[in-house]
Amino acid sequence: MKREHWGSRIGLVLAVAGNAVGLGNFLRFPVQAAKHGGGAFMIPYFLAFLLLGIPLMWVEWTIGRFGGARGHGTTPGMFDEMWKHPIAKYIGSIGVLLPLMIGVYYVYVMTWSLGYAFYSLVGKMNFTVFSQAKDFFNGYIGVAHNSYFSSLTPAYIFYLIGFALTIIVIMRGVSGGIEKLAKIAMPALFIFAILLVIRVLTIGTPDPVNHPTWNINNGLGFMWNPRFDALKEGSTWLAAAGQIFFTLSLGIGAIQCYASYVRENEDIALAGLTTASTNEFAEVILGGTIAIPAAFAFFGPEISKIAGTFDLGFKTLPLVFAKIPFGSIFSALWFLLLFFAGITSSVALAQPPVAFLEDELGIERSKAAIIVGIILFVFSQPVIFFLSHGFLDEIDWWMGTFGLAFFATLEIFIFNYAFGTRRAWEELHKGAKIRVPGIFYYIIRYVTPIFLLFIFLYWSLTDGKAKLLMEGVSPQDRPYIILARVIMLIFLLAGIVLVKIAWNRKHRNGKIEEAIQ
Ligand code: TRP
Ligand code: TRP
Repeated sequence: MKREHWGSRIGLVLAVAGNAVGLGNFLRFPVQAAKHGGGAFMIPYFLAFLLLGIPLMWVEWTIGRFGGARGHGTTPGMFDEMWKHPIAKYIGSIGVLLPLMIGVYYVYVMTWSLGYAFYSLVGKMNFTVFSQAKDFFNGYIGVAHNSYFSSLTPAYIFYLIGFALTIIVIMRGVSGGIEKLAKIAMPALFIFAILLVIRVLTIGTPDPVNHPTWNINNGLGFMWNPRFDALKEGSTWLAAAGQIFFTLSLGIGAIQCYASYVRENEDIALAGLTTASTNEFAEVILGGTIAIPAAFAFFGPEISKIAGTFDLGFKTLPLVFAKIPFGSIFSALWFLLLFFAGITSSVALAQPPVAFLEDELGIERSKAAIIVGIILFVFSQPVIFFLSHGFLDEIDWWMGTFGLAFFATLEIFIFNYAFGTRRAWEELHKGAKIRVPGIFYYIIRYVTPIFLLFIFLYWSLTDGKAKLLMEGVSPQDRPYIILARVIMLIFLLAGIVLVKIAWNRKHRNGKIEEAIQ
């Protein structure tokens, strides 16, 4: 069967950048940076970028193109080609499980921004105090019934729209769907972000009489003035590494999948570098200038109290926009920006399971997209309806935090010690016009694996233990957490069984072909 390919180099870069640029860049990054030392956060952050992010990016592109050339879009087939051990393909199944399970909640969360863009435009979000923004949010997600929302219906409708768009894009294929979407969404995203940056930088001093120090300069200072004490805390270093992981979409199977659709002689060394840099520009420059500085100008240093990941984007910023001229337009721009960032990531999460069904089980693309659509739809119902019971957070921790570190650690060991760093290095440079500096050979071979192992062990031993024992979970919520775990376990087992079926089937087909010849 002939594999699909990206239509053009620019389309490829935009698609992978769309994969990486997501809510993490505009919400998660500013919160992490402001919390962990401001400008000083940039030290562990860039170290993690150099020692973890960029090396792993090259590793995943190399694995992806290598597998794609052999007909595999997902890690079960890729690992099987790289390491001739029967267990390799089962380890690889994690690289299909993670995107599918994360997709179950990511697609829903991403559609909140679509709803918010709509309500900004129709002028339903003219808040004057924080509690209103909070009520609106809680009403929207169905945690409370109030004067803003009496049911989940609106959120559900926006979910259906965003979900349907995601599946339609996937059905149209890699160059006809994902690449086309990225070519529209990514330029739009950058234009919106730049307009918002300009707007934020010209906020000045909103309330010179009562709060002369609450201005945009001090807002930038709040975000960026280095507080070097933070570097003494282990949590700062871990947060930096975690953010690099999350924002570059590493350790999940998504980059490998996109990379499997490049042509044999694509310069993946350069493409990996370009997409990672694009993501960092969107994160540090654009993400670091919008949300926190704007919020500071209106609320001063108090914002550290109202700036959790979602608080910042969905409660604090609407309040800021309500206070500036043409605020509803800027508010809509902000939420459309998040929506574009989110939908290009949603399709990146849906594509690996679709590719698995296509490549390993021979299911036709549109059928595969419908099957994955049904699974995503069914299992997002508990996420939507049990949101307040910690159902989403449970999946997010096991799949979106622990799972990424676990998978990336296994992956880098297979890459270096089963496939071989020397062979991999040649594979990375095939068709490349740039040469990766030799020092990265040693970083990939020794530093990145140790770094990853350390993060993985640290997460397992600290948060992992508390999570496993459900510390701090109320008795009412326990059944929901257990349900989430049962679902994850079923998916894990189903993945293993499907891989087994796929390989048996290929084995049989191979025999039949031999017999015919
Ligand atoms: N990088 C995305 C963000 O910044 C989040 C993400 C992590 C992701 N892993 C992914 C998106 C895999 C798509 C596919 O928000
Ligand atoms: N994991 C994110 C964080 O630590 C929060 C989060 C939960 C999230 N679900 C998400 C972010 C979905 C983006 C999309 O901040």
